[in-house]
Amino acid sequence: MKVLVVGGGGREHAIAWMLNKSNLVDTLYWTPANGGCEDLCENPGIAADDTESLLRFAKGESIDLTVVGPEVPLVRGITDVFNAEGLCVFGPSKQGAMIEGSKGYAKALMKRRGIPTADFREFTDRASAASFLENKTPPYVLKADGLAAGKGVIVAFSQQEAETALCDMFDRKVFGESGSRVVVEEFLEGEEATVLALTDGKTIVPLISSQDHKAAYDDDKGPNTGGMGAIAPAPVVTDTVMGRVMDRILVPLVEELSSLDIDYRGVVYAGLMIKDADPYVVEFNCRFGDPEAEAVFPLMHSDLCDLILRTVRCELNGVRLDWKDAFCCDVVLASGGYPGKYKNGMPVTGVEKAEAMEEIAVFHAGTKLEGDTLLTNGGRVLNIAGTGRTLREAIDTAYRGVDAIRFEGAHCRRDIGHHALKYVT
Ligand code: AMP
Ligand code: GLY
Repeated sequence: MKVLVVGGGGREHAIAWMLNKSNLVDTLYWTPANGGCEDLCENPGIAADDTESLLRFAKGESIDLTVVGPEVPLVRGITDVFNAEGLCVFGPSKQGAMIEGSKGYAKALMKRRGIPTADFREFTDRASAASFLENKTPPYVLKADGLAAGKGVIVAFSQQEAETALCDMFDRKVFGESGSRVVVEEFLEGEEATVLALTDGKTIVPLISSQDHKAAYDDDKGPNTGGMGAIAPAPVVTDTVMGRVMDRILVPLVEELSSLDIDYRGVVYAGLMIKDADPYVVEFNCRFGDPEAEAVFPLMHSDLCDLILRTVRCELNGVRLDWKDAFCCDVVLASGGYPGKYKNGMPVTGVEKAEAMEEIAVFHAGTKLEGDTLLTNGGRVLNIAGTGRTLREAIDTAYRGVDAIRFEGAHCRRDIGHHALKYVT
């Protein structure tokens, strides 16, 4: 088969790495690939949101399967466009992707189906939102309705902070039109975790759980990022919790989408807050998590291409996944200054040394090759994923890999997975 992976980050490198291992894949393309593409696949260099050029390429090259990594092309409807041309594509339809594309839509759906989530109200003007908050006590959670590259959520710990955030969203339009509707939610306490599941619209096949680390610095301090590292499985997601995630969240979600005649064949990402073994939905996404995918895939024995084809063909019924009995710890190495301003173009050394270590995979995110030199080319630069029989071993392995890699200004969290150790030692 000829397979095309769309999206330029660490998640897409991990997807391409998995597909490259599959016997079903003869030729692999990845676009717009990063510095991790060499030796793995061809890069046609088309942007992930350039649906027209992607379609032309897929038709011209007779691509048998297109796997869409990021949310933006899905929310814009790439799946509908490809399906209309008879092309096979993995990822939900435009309507299905609304579970990520509009927070208000997702919250209303959850409310209708009684899916556990924070209480909320939706506002289209600043004054009403501000007067609603006057009778509440902080912390307040304010969310821009539309896509905002993971930055549209503000947790405000004072009235003043909340007012500034509302002003940023409604008046200064820092999230553009995404912020012209704002969801105000109750603050949930507990521990965050992620459950990713494949669904063909009927059957749901959950992957092992995972846990992102969103804050920039150790001990969950500092600004929110796209994710500074992840572990899998997440010990807080016990079998009891996973059962509840299925019964209370994923089953009603997929039933609701199906009752609305929405074509949802792809991944459901359930971002959860877990309190006393009860899961609440913080957000739904319509694609694999990043960096969760980089921690989950190294543990997967099953053939990802086969699973994706079964999802697209509505053949997930009866599928059982095969996992390594181990943990994975994925550490993100970021550019100096990230998640604020940073410089690109720093030479990176040591990746091959890290890759040569046992039980380590390196997934590129913000890198590019210039000749033979690997350069930084983004905020999150590399993912170093270590696997081990225990969580402690996985963590130690990942950081051995991290310590082999150098570039000017590099920084990472030193505590990925530490919080979870309390459950397993
Ligand atoms: P989201 O993009 O919706 O996942 O939100 C980003 C982050 O904000 C989450 O990972 C949580 O850490 C935090 N967050 C979002 N909603 C809530 C909530 N209702 N209560 C507490 N924290 C939240
Ligand atoms: N890890 C957060 C996300 O993929 O949205």
